[in-house]
Amino acid sequence: MTNQYSLSGPDSNEPTELARVEGTLGTPAVDVRGLNQKAGVFTYDPAFTATCSCESDITFIDGANGQLLYRGYPIDQLAEKASHLEVSYLLINGELPSQDQMDTFRESITHHTMLNTSLMKFFDSFHYDAHPMAMMTGIVGSLAAFYHDTTNIHDPEHREIFAHRMIAKIPTIAAAAYKHSVGQPIMSPNNELGYTANLLRMMFAVPAETYEVDSIASKALEVLFMLHADHEQNASTSTVRMAGSTGANPYAALSTGIAALWGPAHGGANEAVLNMLNEIGDSSQVSKYVEKAKDKNDPFKLMGFGHRVYKNFDPRALVIREYCHQVLDHYNTHGHRLFDLARELEKVALEDDYFVERKLYPNVDFYSGIIYEALGIPANMFTPMFAIARTVGWCAHWMEMMNDPGTRIARPRQIYTGYTKRDYVDIGHR
Ligand code: ACO
Repeated sequence: MTNQYSLSGPDSNEPTELARVEGTLGTPAVDVRGLNQKAGVFTYDPAFTATCSCESDITFIDGANGQLLYRGYPIDQLAEKASHLEVSYLLINGELPSQDQMDTFRESITHHTMLNTSLMKFFDSFHYDAHPMAMMTGIVGSLAAFYHDTTNIHDPEHREIFAHRMIAKIPTIAAAAYKHSVGQPIMSPNNELGYTANLLRMMFAVPAETYEVDSIASKALEVLFMLHADHEQNASTSTVRMAGSTGANPYAALSTGIAALWGPAHGGANEAVLNMLNEIGDSSQVSKYVEKAKDKNDPFKLMGFGHRVYKNFDPRALVIREYCHQVLDHYNTHGHRLFDLARELEKVALEDDYFVERKLYPNVDFYSGIIYEALGIPANMFTPMFAIARTVGWCAHWMEMMNDPGTRIARPRQIYTGYTKRDYVDIGHR
């Protein structure tokens, strides 16, 4: 097998040799750095469908075979056996923790859950019907104004405290955003509780009543959070890396990830799926909506369907679909109705040539909203749930990037299609 590719540029008849780059798993790449100097051309790849932006040890996806590995461990094994904090440790540090390491990590996360009281006042300034994702983007972006002791990006200790702080505080921030949106008092974290139990309490407890955490609900959130914790160079993670590559403080970089996640083509899909299922209403309407999704003149898409990398199935969707049964059996019947409708929609779409030819399968968020709904989590909190989980991946990628001595500012080029040079015309003569 050759280790070199050659390419002929417009300015030379001599082919330019390009090195082949291989990782431990996955498709090899062509190293095009320096191509412009050598051959006088750039590469053109809008939306980065064929471009590797970095080397990474964190997560591997085999899209053709529906495989997802965190630091080498298959996602289904982790979802079945691990906890979200264990997976967080793994993603950030590279190895599963020993018991001592796990205890120390849990202690650190537990003791960083509170927010500065001045920061808490920010929530009051948001409009009463603000979307929680809008509040989260703003609040996370402002954290650097409070936590100066972690903004020296060149100090590994600062970087580690930043990551612990973010993983600890993001549930508190999301829950406070929710409480503001429903006009209830913000609940402080309770350090006696585990990660997801604490989140549920901060969202659903009120000071006037005692609150018992439902263990099925907290276990379901653990599973969903592990499944969403990282996904290599997805849009929001790439955004965090890009912002971070400028040397921006990590809180600012992370807030760009939250903003990118919000879009319906990415993390906003879970909320959009539930809205779509409610709009479809019942199985008699399924074919009509499948036809709408295929119609190129109709902007409607089957939300929760399709993925840039998975062209077979999304292994996270399989775990969630299975988990739906357990959760729905424990909870409400409305969830069952939506789940049945989702199964019907999946069946019709997967038998349709349009979806088969384009290799469009249900992704992680086709079913996640159904579980969230069954747990009583409102639709506008679905994407914040995703943001809580993905905070781990964003931190791990930012830390990996900052540890890499080869990191440079990320700065793509373009094909310019505007006017060629022309002279300024005085306003009276235009
Ligand atoms: N419904 C109908 N058609 C679709 C869908 C869909 N959900 N997804 C893709 N297609 C079609 C496209 O129109 C395109 O058709 P064409 O070849 O005739 O032009 C073809 O399938 C290829 O799709 P692309 O849009 O080129 O795929 P891309 O990789 O750019 O987009 C994406 C992937 C954004 C996930 C897309 O499939 C989509 O919008 N899905 C719905 C939103 C969604 O579920 N997002 C969540 C993604 S997972 C996550 O972030 C957690």
